[in-house]
Amino acid sequence: MKKITCLLLVVFLAACSAKMNPTQKDVDRVSSRYEGYTLEMLLEGKQLYEANCTLCHKLKSPKDYSEEKLNKVVPAMVKKLHKKKGSEVLDAAAQESILRYLVTMSTR
Ligand code: HEC
Repeated sequence: MKKITCLLLVVFLAACSAKMNPTQKDVDRVSSRYEGYTLEMLLEGKQLYEANCTLCHKLKSPKDYSEEKLNKVVPAMVKKLHKKKGSEVLDAAAQESILRYLVTMSTR
């Protein structure tokens, strides 16, 4: 029984850390779609997402959403954020950066 608990914990931790850390592999997977995409850009998207998208709810896992869904949800959420903040804290490039990060990680 202890062994199983231990094994589950290891699998769980591995799954968590994999989710949190984008790697070059993730970039390679989407490189045909996002020309010139780099790990640095992916990490910037992650950072923007984590810094701006926890005002109203916890971070949503990208894996729970399709690309189609994210294409609709992210612009709507950025609008919500701007309304709440009372200013346009994210420009179009930042919004695209967040969207690309989420789409990339959703297909992992
Ligand atoms: C002003 C408040 C607010 C901010 C800021 C905000 N959200 Fe949301 N978000 C909501 C609400 C309300 C919901 C619906 C209830 C829920 O799922 O928690 C939601 C739901 C979501 C969902 C699930 C959508 C669905 O249909 O299942 C995603 C994904 C999401 N937000 C992403 C983001 C991202 C990305 C950002 C940053 C750009 C962000 N949110 C910022 C309020 C906000």
